[in-house]
Amino acid sequence: MLRVGVLVSGGGTNLQSIIDHVENGKITGASIEVVISNNANAYALTRAKNHNIPAFCVSPKDFPDRESFNDALLAKLEEFQLDLIVLAGFLVVIPKKMVERYPNQIINIHPSLIPSFCGTGYYGLKVHEAALARGVKISGATVHFVDDGTDTGPIILQKAVEVKEDDTPETLQRRIMEEAEWKILPQAIQLIADKKNQEE
Ligand code: GAR
Repeated sequence: MLRVGVLVSGGGTNLQSIIDHVENGKITGASIEVVISNNANAYALTRAKNHNIPAFCVSPKDFPDRESFNDALLAKLEEFQLDLIVLAGFLVVIPKKMVERYPNQIINIHPSLIPSFCGTGYYGLKVHEAALARGVKISGATVHFVDDGTDTGPIILQKAVEVKEDDTPETLQRRIMEEAEWKILPQAIQLIADKKNQEE
């Protein structure tokens, strides 16, 4: 069984998709052990609680400096003996220490076709604003392993999505979620679960 922790900051629709895939048996051999948010008001925490998944807030606001926040986040993760950490809209820079502790065990969903519209400053709606400003006709989503850069780790899955003439950042964001993110993130978890479970 692949023990998965999910880190979130906001609405948690990607978290919901993972929960649904596990509950419907479309993801097998993996269990969501914990959900952690940096934001106490994240609706994602409510989604986790609704499905009886342990859910916690670890906020930088509750710590005197970044170092102690990073240590607290790492300590909370350690409690759950995780095999995989999924960043599902987690808008916090991942501490180097955490990347070193979980090599090739952290994955991230990014709402564009990397290497377009990624890196520092590209998150959430900003990604879609930039894609529309550039006039691309195709965008999409990427799941990748997390290394110590921003959106630079090895790519696991990508899915392209059409950009429409009258798209706003919001309509493009929604289409990319529906057609790409909510599919490829569970798929990537399944691939990693299959690999682990074959090795056992
Ligand atoms: C998603 O679109 C995700 O790809 C994006 O934040 C959104 C979270 O939505 N992540 C990034 O931009 C990371 N750089 P959700 O909370 O509804 O899953």
